[in-house]
Amino acid sequence: MTTERNEPVEVVVARLAAAQRGRRGALLPLLHDLQEELGVVGEEAVAAIAAELNLSRAEVHGVVSFYHDFRKVPAGRHIVRYCRAESCQSRGGAAVEAALAERLRVAMGETRADGQVTLEPVYCLGLCAVGPNALVDGVPIARIDGEAAIERIAARVAA
Ligand code: FES
Repeated sequence: MTTERNEPVEVVVARLAAAQRGRRGALLPLLHDLQEELGVVGEEAVAAIAAELNLSRAEVHGVVSFYHDFRKVPAGRHIVRYCRAESCQSRGGAAVEAALAERLRVAMGETRADGQVTLEPVYCLGLCAVGPNALVDGVPIARIDGEAAIERIAARVAA
């Protein structure tokens, strides 16, 4: 794999790791930087990070798999994170989720075939009193309680 700058992943990892050199707990910041730059933390990157930080691949892989924010495959152009936690669920969240998934034409946990949108679960956004809620490209959307709210989300991800 090469990047937009046409650098091999190992070169990107080495460059980003150099910025973390000497820092305690460099793994997480490095993973975040890599995710930010490449959009994914793939197997190639795991091996390169392990070599750079003198860790085992299993140690790096364990951290990557523990945190859901690290992606093994690229997300769509837009990311809709829909809350599946208790309060939103008690406000009809399951039915809204089904309607949202149908409107966006993507299953929960998937990216639509055209790469336009990824729909994924999140477990509480701290907006429990105004649910069901979602984050659309990092912007909170509250009170998703009907077709109008779903259409607003669809319009955001259409661009
Ligand atoms: S339960 Fe959905 S925002 Fe808290």
